[in-house]
Amino acid sequence: MGLNIVQKIIKTHLVEGDMTPGKPIAIRIDQTLTQDATGTMAYLHFEAMGLPKVQTELSVSYVDHNTLQAGGPENANDHLFLQTAAAKFGVYFSKAGNGICHQVHLERFAVPGKTLLGSDSHTPTAGGIGMLAIGAGGMDVALAMAGEPFYLTMPKVVRVNLYGKLRPFVSAKDIILELLRRLTVKGGLGRVFEYGGEGVKYLTVPERATITNMGAELGATTSIFPSDEQTYLFMKAQGREAQWRPLQADPDATYDEVIDIDLSELEPLIACPHMPDNVKKVKEVEGLRVHQVAIGSCTNSSYRDLKTVGEMFKRTGKMVHPMVSAAISPGSKQVLRMMDKEGYYDVFLRAGFRILENACGPCIGMGFAPPSGGVSVRTFNRNFYGRSGTKDAEVYLASPETAAATAMKGVITDPRDLGLEEIKVFLPEKFEIDDSMIYAPAADPDEVEIWKGPTINYVGYKEPLGDKLEGEVLLKVGDNITTDHIIPGGAKILPLRSNIPAISEYVYSVVDETFAQRAKEKGGGFIVGGENYGQGSSREHAAIGPMYLGIKAVIAKSFARIHHANLINFGILPLVFVNKEDYDKIDQGDWLEIDLSNFAPGEDNIITVINRTKGISIPTKHGLNKRQVEIIKAGGVLAYVKQKFEK
Ligand code: F3S
Repeated sequence: MGLNIVQKIIKTHLVEGDMTPGKPIAIRIDQTLTQDATGTMAYLHFEAMGLPKVQTELSVSYVDHNTLQAGGPENANDHLFLQTAAAKFGVYFSKAGNGICHQVHLERFAVPGKTLLGSDSHTPTAGGIGMLAIGAGGMDVALAMAGEPFYLTMPKVVRVNLYGKLRPFVSAKDIILELLRRLTVKGGLGRVFEYGGEGVKYLTVPERATITNMGAELGATTSIFPSDEQTYLFMKAQGREAQWRPLQADPDATYDEVIDIDLSELEPLIACPHMPDNVKKVKEVEGLRVHQVAIGSCTNSSYRDLKTVGEMFKRTGKMVHPMVSAAISPGSKQVLRMMDKEGYYDVFLRAGFRILENACGPCIGMGFAPPSGGVSVRTFNRNFYGRSGTKDAEVYLASPETAAATAMKGVITDPRDLGLEEIKVFLPEKFEIDDSMIYAPAADPDEVEIWKGPTINYVGYKEPLGDKLEGEVLLKVGDNITTDHIIPGGAKILPLRSNIPAISEYVYSVVDETFAQRAKEKGGGFIVGGENYGQGSSREHAAIGPMYLGIKAVIAKSFARIHHANLINFGILPLVFVNKEDYDKIDQGDWLEIDLSNFAPGEDNIITVINRTKGISIPTKHGLNKRQVEIIKAGGVLAYVKQKFEK
């Protein structure tokens, strides 16, 4: 039977499993990328594994998120750490100012048919070139850099059939907004979207990348396009045609689901506040007064996007509306240099745009926040409440065409209403290739000393597990404890992310201010929880902090999936009550003993928790597999892989 593109790539990278949708698989990772906000932890984890060099074909460390934040030295310290760690560990380093990780990766490094794991949720952008590109946490990326496979659930593959041709001023952003309108932000869970059909051949790689980028908003594992003539032309214009290879689904390939989109029927769309799937036709919200327009982000800041905006201003001779503040953040230095070379930089300046750095910038609320209660139209991928930096702002997401028309008119405007002739942007023969801000790894890693400022303080290990755990119940909590309860986010705490002792002071601080102090005084202990313990985000600090404070096990009625995995990664034993009512038989302050002499893999293996204070025994289960048991026994995944390497 024929294979689709996703199956072809997974098959050639499969380490464990059999490609049955919904079943666990493990795949080999060819390339990794990190950005600065998540990268520090990834390289600290990697360093703790004790390997001299990354084992991937290629790894790149980008600085694009926290570039111009006001305040102390934390960011500069992180950047220096990242640069020296990259040099030492065999990783390419893309300096702040070189561009947004996904745009630069597409331009300079992405290769069809390869796998990419990135510590950023928009890593699927590289699917536009035909890579299987997946976003993950810092530890997963560190493990991939160490040569470990990536464990995931085999996704369902959804064929998105594009046919017909887009009409003038309707573009790639409108295709992905249409999918979000149909499927919602949950519609992609457990799925990969594989694009095909006649309509694909009219989309250039940067347009395809807009679609795969925002596929992340569908909740998809990733999205992917074939590698064809368009892919070849893009790679050739990047001087990388030697790395091109064709990649198509077999004619008799099968899919778990099929979606059809007639491109000729689409019209300009816009995602209204405060969700990317709250999509309407631009026509339905036309005329709404706008205070701000922002063009950029990893979704829409390519040469094609900015040139389209430039042409619209050039042809109309218009300026940005006096009551609108408009900004452009080019996706990369290459894009900016192309704009400069072709005269569009001057068009933007004359039109009254503010030119921001080639970085994420306003997309993560790093400056250019809208006014209070203001309306901002952005070409970005997310419009969550408060993300712009202004809590009560109303953020709309649209194509560069709609954003440009809106900037001119001062109200939300359908770009077709400007009465312009169709604008066709073709790929240049050659992009302005300038890798001067990408540094290759050091020729002699021994010469490089990793620079760690005082705001970087890492603790990655626990002691290996013995035959018995004992200690006090330091905290008993109820149902639905979130990772925000365990370690809160926010401007005060986030900058401490590279400083484990400092961030650990905030563990459970919103529940019990004295928790961290008590845990340290008692030399660690246990936590007892209710249902769905650790729900919310994948924040790994919600496991690292408790590990640092000496938490040995969490005994709960049930666990949220990702936090459960994080507890195991950091060597904390997650135990589930066999009888939920036993939750009432343990109180805060009780002394517990857990005999682990029979700790072995198995769904039904019972671990007995002895409550010495109350003189009773309580049965619990762990349900861990062989690898997970070994990780816990070693003291966490870092120690586990280190042991493996030493063997
Ligand atoms: Fe950066 Fe925003 Fe993309 S933060 S990586 S531009 S989603």
